[in-house]
Amino acid sequence: MQMGSREGLKIEENVALAPLTTFYIGGPARYMARVASVEGLREALAYAREKELKMLILGGGSNMLVGDDGFDGLVIKIEIAGVEIQKDIEEKESNKVILIAGAGESWDAVVARSVAEGLWGIENLSGIPGTVGGAVVQNIGAYGAAVSEVLEWVEVFDTKTGEVKKIENTACAFDYRESVFKHTSNFVVTRAAFALSRQAKPNLSYKDLAQRFSDGVAETRGSSAPTLVAIREAVLAIRRGKFPDLSVEGTAGSFFKNPILPKPEAEALKQKYPEMPLFAMPETAGVKVPLAFILDKVLGLKGFCVGGARLFENQPLVVAAAHGTRAQDIFDLKDVVMKKVFDETQIKIEPEVKIIL
Ligand code: EPU
Repeated sequence: MQMGSREGLKIEENVALAPLTTFYIGGPARYMARVASVEGLREALAYAREKELKMLILGGGSNMLVGDDGFDGLVIKIEIAGVEIQKDIEEKESNKVILIAGAGESWDAVVARSVAEGLWGIENLSGIPGTVGGAVVQNIGAYGAAVSEVLEWVEVFDTKTGEVKKIENTACAFDYRESVFKHTSNFVVTRAAFALSRQAKPNLSYKDLAQRFSDGVAETRGSSAPTLVAIREAVLAIRRGKFPDLSVEGTAGSFFKNPILPKPEAEALKQKYPEMPLFAMPETAGVKVPLAFILDKVLGLKGFCVGGARLFENQPLVVAAAHGTRAQDIFDLKDVVMKKVFDETQIKIEPEVKIIL
């Protein structure tokens, strides 16, 4: 329902948030503004300030869990569109092609477009739900690649000063699922630029991916090296096996963070569970412990459920939620799992998903 408007700004009231998240869970937003431009964003922010409303910036809703009571403030849904490929830069710097995308674009649509254009660099990040803005804020990573490796700059709107700023990669403080944008609440991502390449650079460093090509499961389509399209398809196929089908049930992907432990602690754990793989973290000094192993092999929690929420059978780090599941079921599941992990390993795990209350 439309409640009021400024110049072009529409404020909707009492908008269901569940359909705007991939969990399909949560109560309504008291107010919502869908913004398609920096100007729209500026107006929405002014409205929130005037009414003294708390604010939530929403992208694809793919990494959040909204509480059953909804959000008692203004949700600003970023719908800034546009994908532009800068051909002029391509000529100057051989092979480097800059792709600029609006923060509201679907991340996977941008990946699909880059693959269709023959541009290498983000194909391993195929199939990740959410928007370009979300991809940058979270520094999404998968199958041996991360957004931080190809990101050229991010355009943000600074809500404190009202300025639009360009932040270069080195100033983004990227780390494992981390960036400056997660912690600087006055920056709202409006656009991002990615440095891609026309030169074939297959990245098969991730074992499951390499295996698909060596086993001949994935098509190389007659060429000696995997094509961009073949890599995208292989990644999508691997993901289909690991994540719930969003057309059947809700999920926000990995619900918990894999714990990063100091090396001696990780090794002590490995002594106790010799089968457990450890993942070196080039970005930090710590070692990543696969929580899926602890949940599955140590605690036997695959398929563990509270109400309609359960630890997904193919990958227990993922929480799947049947339609109609309440946020409270997921909170309860989270608390039980956190306690069981702590009691067994003394590790304090944390949700990766952002909880909105
Ligand atoms: N495992 C089980 N039971 C299961 C699933 C996994 O015991 O049901 C154990 C296995 O021993 C497995 C380990 O847990 O080796 C890790 O499993 P996971 O599925 O997390 O590994 P993966 O598929 O190789 C890794 C990253 C993911 C990332 C994908 C794609 C880790 C621990 N996992 O997954 O990243 O999305 O590659 O690149 O590095 C993350 O970074 O937090 C994360 C989930």
